[in-house]
Amino acid sequence: MMRVEVLNGKLLEVPADGLIVAVSEAGLDEGGLLPELDELLAGAVEAEWRAERITCKRGHAFALHTMGRIPSRYVIFVGIGERAKYDAQGVREAVAEGLAVARQYRLSDVLLCYDALKAPEVTPETMGQAIAEGAILGQYRFDGYRSKREADEAFRVSRLSVAMPPEVRQAVETGFTIGTATAEGVNLARTLTNTPANKLTPEVLAQEAVGVARRHRFEVEVLERADMERLGMGALLAVAQGSANAPRLVVMKYQGRETWDDVIAFVGKGITFDTGGISLKPAQNMESMIMDMGGAAAVIGAMEAIGRLRPKANILAVTPLVENMPDGRAYRPGDVLHSMSGKTIEVISTDAEGRLILADAITYAKRLGASFIVDLATLTGAVLVALGTQTTGAMTNDAAWWAKLERAAARAGERVWLLPSFDVYLEQIKSPVADLKNSGGRNAGTITAGMFLKAFVEETPWVHLDIAGTAWEEKGTALTPKGASGVMVRTLVELARLVAEEGAAS
Ligand code: BES
Ligand code: MN
Ligand code: ZN
Repeated sequence: MMRVEVLNGKLLEVPADGLIVAVSEAGLDEGGLLPELDELLAGAVEAEWRAERITCKRGHAFALHTMGRIPSRYVIFVGIGERAKYDAQGVREAVAEGLAVARQYRLSDVLLCYDALKAPEVTPETMGQAIAEGAILGQYRFDGYRSKREADEAFRVSRLSVAMPPEVRQAVETGFTIGTATAEGVNLARTLTNTPANKLTPEVLAQEAVGVARRHRFEVEVLERADMERLGMGALLAVAQGSANAPRLVVMKYQGRETWDDVIAFVGKGITFDTGGISLKPAQNMESMIMDMGGAAAVIGAMEAIGRLRPKANILAVTPLVENMPDGRAYRPGDVLHSMSGKTIEVISTDAEGRLILADAITYAKRLGASFIVDLATLTGAVLVALGTQTTGAMTNDAAWWAKLERAAARAGERVWLLPSFDVYLEQIKSPVADLKNSGGRNAGTITAGMFLKAFVEETPWVHLDIAGTAWEEKGTALTPKGASGVMVRTLVELARLVAEEGAAS
């Protein structure tokens, strides 16, 4: 794990493996560290800038050996584009880019110049948060299970020390604490999501959640099959009945306020593997369905961060954990299910299982006193068609609650986009034999899935986040390496912090 800390000593006097310096469109003309470095390095900075090897281009970084002229062995120049157009997300990306080069050069002890990195509209606390997040998110790698790994793969930058003026030090340090907690919450969600289904059954995932709860002294409850039967969770149980791995439902309670009111429920879909069930998925790419618990992982990751930060908000985390398998005992298309809410459901596709387990989890969250709900789910392939891989699809029944979540996402640097929830879409999920059916067909697949959940949410203010497109990064970026992205952990943490600052209502 990488440490992010305030540098003790002078930037150009402390020995280190590398020094990261941000470069804007003004280049050396901006003053500050660049001209000073240029002098110490005998004109090399100016020369490389003229040769366009050092540039302000975002995502571009260049490493220069210092030949013993300063105590840092390398200087890494990172482009940040136009300083006026650059924000906290730019800071996260620049830090991640700089450290990606440090990792490539196997530099383990790295310095960073705060003044050169500073974005004009960003407070010192948020700067500190963005620096820690950029560093810790970018250096994440899933270890995997290969018996032999290249030394390069195992290498990590171990320490980032940031030099800054004394007047911002305290605020930046507070930001480091927030950013470190948040990024480690994201990385926990990534690791859970990257873990294959044979190693992460509902039971194992429940233990992981209990571990988080113990660590932070949350109240925790784990429902097993018999408890679910007693509670009448017929929708969740139907999905679970085809698997030899028994289901779990984990509830964690974090009470950050004097009284247990204004309770925010985070409900996360935790299908540890989705074969589609009897409505079996095609074999091609089915292995990617290890990520179908990304919603539950985001909730668990957010709780890890919230446990460290302890904001003044009440949070209820509810994660239904189930494996969706085809089997002699599996549920079938045509079955009619009795959900905990009392609503009956006709099964059209056993592959539309996420909304079934969420229906009972939402009902249970309401029973436990949820006053506001956010659900997160890798729910529909259709959201990939609608929005692609970089924007999370959203639905809501409450404009004010949505506005708050949207602001939290903006602070977190995550993209969300609201889809409509007009009542006409309900026509698509009407059933002749039950209150609802679990599939509305191909058209507006993301919206009809959300409408199904909305029927169980009823009047409670609610936001639904469909992360099927965003939970997995195919290419890999500086901030998000290939594999599970841990998307929406940052948004949930910011939401809890916003609620602590200004309340949930309004
Ligand atoms: N887990 C899938 C959705 C999914 C697709 C997640 C791609 C991540 C990447 C979900 O359970 C599912 O199978 N949804 C069906 C719903 C349909 C049967 C109504 C879908 O999207 O095809
Ligand atoms: Mn499915
Ligand atoms: Zn699924």
